[in-house]
Amino acid sequence: MDFRKIPKVELHLHLEGAAPPSFIRALAARKHIDLSGIFAPNGGYSFRDFKDFLRVYEAACTVLTNPQDFHDLTLAVLENSAAQGVVYTEAFLSPDFCGGGDLAAWRDFLAAIEAAAMRAETEMGITMRGCVTAIRHFGPEQSRRIMRCAQETAGAFIEGFGIAGDEKIFHFKDFAYSFDAAREACLGLTAHAGEWGGAQSVRDALEYLHVTRLGHGVRAIEDPALVEALVARGTVLEVCPGSNLALGLYPSWQTHPIDALRRAGVKITVSTDDPPFFETSMSKEYQSLADHFEWDASMFDMLNRTALDAAFCSDTTRAALAKRLEVA
Ligand code: ADE
Ligand code: ZN
Repeated sequence: MDFRKIPKVELHLHLEGAAPPSFIRALAARKHIDLSGIFAPNGGYSFRDFKDFLRVYEAACTVLTNPQDFHDLTLAVLENSAAQGVVYTEAFLSPDFCGGGDLAAWRDFLAAIEAAAMRAETEMGITMRGCVTAIRHFGPEQSRRIMRCAQETAGAFIEGFGIAGDEKIFHFKDFAYSFDAAREACLGLTAHAGEWGGAQSVRDALEYLHVTRLGHGVRAIEDPALVEALVARGTVLEVCPGSNLALGLYPSWQTHPIDALRRAGVKITVSTDDPPFFETSMSKEYQSLADHFEWDASMFDMLNRTALDAAFCSDTTRAALAKRLEVA
């Protein structure tokens, strides 16, 4: 089966994390920035563990210095996603890497990203929306600046607010103010939790941030009562199995809890997180799910409908996209 042909909805993709290594290398060469420590001999990104991944990720971002870079990056990323059959992608956008959280600068970067997204929609048939994302290890105070960037640019393109980064630093309580304000700005809410922080981090994200979606969330499986709570609340998990395996969260596909969570009744979606870092793609994720859990076309159809239901886009956009899923 050619999994690229299945129309897909991806809810969890970091724009900078999707940067092809060749794109980053070319910018580094042009700007005379030495990034030699972050690449593997095969040309891909090289990192040892999650902490090292964050270091390499942030080093790669140092070459993305102006709006034109983000315009070109957005086009390159959407071209790759469209080739994977993705019809809708909700990209995590980080004002931290687009002017450091300065609102005026963010507006300029965002205009460039949005212009590229509109061009991709016309030329490649892929729809993108943005979810402004704070980075946890940059701290709660900085998250308020990022939230203000989200609040001030919320609208037809920026439709969500989230948090990524190192789950072991700070507490979700420290970010409740930012999430409350983002909710008041009518933004959809998601948080990276239940990746490195375990099941307690999922509990905390629900209690303090009141998110409707969780980035990863897979460690909830360690707490059966929490799994029941996720089912009862209808919380949607943005599961990125290839990312979890590449970062060493689970040793193998067989031990990954995605199928157990699904069987327990949790709403599951599938995404790639940072595809070139993890040498994955949407088709590779689908292929592995089919190989290891015998997921078939009807299962993938269900995943994509769940994802579309949970997308932070407007209902008009959702209705138009639903037609594209029906074509399958
Ligand atoms: N930022 C990019 N990818 C991430 C991940 N898997 N976990 C936390 N923060 C991230
Ligand atoms: Zn992520």
